[in-house]
Amino acid sequence: MLNFMGELKRTHYAGDLGPENQDQEVVVMGWVHRRRDLGSLIFIDLRDISGLIQVVIHPEQAVAHEMAGKLRNEYVFGARGVVKPRDENNVNPRMLTGSIEIEVSQVILLNNSEPLPVQINENLLAEENLRLKYRYLDLRREKLSKIIKFRHELIFAIREYLTEQRFLEIETPILMKSTPEGARDYLVPSRIHQGKFFALPQSPQIYKQLLMIAGFDRYFQIARCFRDEDLRADRQPEFTQLDLEMSFATQEDIFTIIEGLLHHVFHKLLQHDLPIPLPRLKYQEAMVRFGTDKPDMRFGLELVDLTELLLKTEFQVFRKTLEDGGKIRCVVAPGCAEYSRREIDQLVDIARHLGGEGLAYCKVEARGLQAGISKFLGDDEQKAILQKTAAEDGDLILIAAGSSTLVYKILAEIRNHLGRELKLYREQDFNLLWITDFPLFEYNEEEKRWDTAHHMFTLPKEEHLTYFENEKDYHRIEGQLYDLVCNGVELSSGSIRCHRLDIQKKIFSVLGFSEAEVEEKFGFFLNALKYGTPPHGGIAPGIDRLVMMMTGADSIRDVIAFPKTLQAADLMSESPSQVSSQQLNELGISIVSRNPEKP
Ligand code: AMO
Repeated sequence: MLNFMGELKRTHYAGDLGPENQDQEVVVMGWVHRRRDLGSLIFIDLRDISGLIQVVIHPEQAVAHEMAGKLRNEYVFGARGVVKPRDENNVNPRMLTGSIEIEVSQVILLNNSEPLPVQINENLLAEENLRLKYRYLDLRREKLSKIIKFRHELIFAIREYLTEQRFLEIETPILMKSTPEGARDYLVPSRIHQGKFFALPQSPQIYKQLLMIAGFDRYFQIARCFRDEDLRADRQPEFTQLDLEMSFATQEDIFTIIEGLLHHVFHKLLQHDLPIPLPRLKYQEAMVRFGTDKPDMRFGLELVDLTELLLKTEFQVFRKTLEDGGKIRCVVAPGCAEYSRREIDQLVDIARHLGGEGLAYCKVEARGLQAGISKFLGDDEQKAILQKTAAEDGDLILIAAGSSTLVYKILAEIRNHLGRELKLYREQDFNLLWITDFPLFEYNEEEKRWDTAHHMFTLPKEEHLTYFENEKDYHRIEGQLYDLVCNGVELSSGSIRCHRLDIQKKIFSVLGFSEAEVEEKFGFFLNALKYGTPPHGGIAPGIDRLVMMMTGADSIRDVIAFPKTLQAADLMSESPSQVSSQQLNELGISIVSRNPEKP
């Protein structure tokens, strides 16, 4: 009963057919999406990559009819027939090809299918792990297949735009030397050089800089990156960046290219006229107003600093914070004075979850501050708070106290939570902005050393070079660093790079690398910097996050054909998996169980 395609040759894709094809004989091929067997007439919706078309098989076409009677959901078949308009009362306005159908003269069965373990119907979604196990079936869903097609179109449009701007697409190695980008590396053992390892790139950072040294002037790559880090809704261990780098470029030049590129892809793919140039906000201002360097600017709810107002407070908790050099800041939840205990506890939980001891609150009533910690605040303090926050009757003031960093972290999260809960924005709006003027270094309190805020190849501002002389000034050094943020998510990071060996060495020394370590880790790169390195800079928008944003997908897994789970596993191929002892022997590796109970 099964056939190879034989003499049947596809002439059209299902979704491409329209009234203009009326009376044409066509051949379509695809899957049985839905079938209705009315005994005499059989209707089948045939699905291919382009969409659906209804094929109808009349009993007069005896051979075809008999064959069609055997088709079941997800069987693969081909049909030859003539395109006809549907009767007026059979027109299906929900289907793109709903005004036509194919009157079939020949049906061939190309393959059958067992009943599916997961449904393709959007309304009958199976649990995600099961869908990931059968990802190739889940990808048959219209929602996912549309996103994957969108992703292709986006990448195509990116290539088109950048090629026109004289960028060259150049591949860089996947097996490379481990270089730090902040996350853990995925390592690949070498068989030929036993005991030695390659790392998979966390990004092609060093290579793209080497390409500038090599004189390629403008480079880009749709680059696969690998990072062994804790996963979240917008993080995968294996993800894709649009990695780019430009020589003789300033921050302005990079913004212009990215803004032009975004304008092009939004216009081409979403017919959306993205207003450019994009707004900019300095890092310091973003922190003070929103508590984060990735503010969701679709709504207000800016933070208010109460530290100065409460310098003389009698309230023990705040006193202690002030004595420890901490800060007291708040955010006003409009119209939330009637929040129940449970709703307030939910907010307190957010603060605790982030490492805070809690979250104080007061309700605003016509008479002044009520409930929560209001009884611990003097009249003058209450008045000053009301004045500074401009809170109104019916609002809820949420106050966090502690180290400046912690307070920002808590209130930024609370603010995002309120924005979502109170529906202060439209999900489908895009709010893109640049965050600029980041500090180059951050002090790592736990490990008592300096880290870079972005990465160690960033050029400091020229006027801040003198701050390298004294450790107490390190925090004042700003880098030529920028992030692109959309709706509270970091979409890209980039910087103008250190093209001078002397400055790059200063950075390594602030980070506490010994000369021997620098030589061992970056010797090849520092050597390259000696041979006429042009000033250069770049950026790397995350493609997965860009697709998520443009398609409104909730999870990064929805925009990647074969994603990993939050536990960094592939449920379909069941990897990572064990390998044979022969493979391990060849690599000179033996597995030592970390759990002494298990051999
Ligand atoms: P950075 O590490 O900030 O910069 O990464 C740039 C962008 O890549 C995306 N991204 C991720 N997407 C999904 N899953 C992940 N685990 C993940 N990690 C990062 C984000 C992020 O903004 N070499 C520098 C770029 C440069 O300076 O040119 C870099 O990799 O969208």
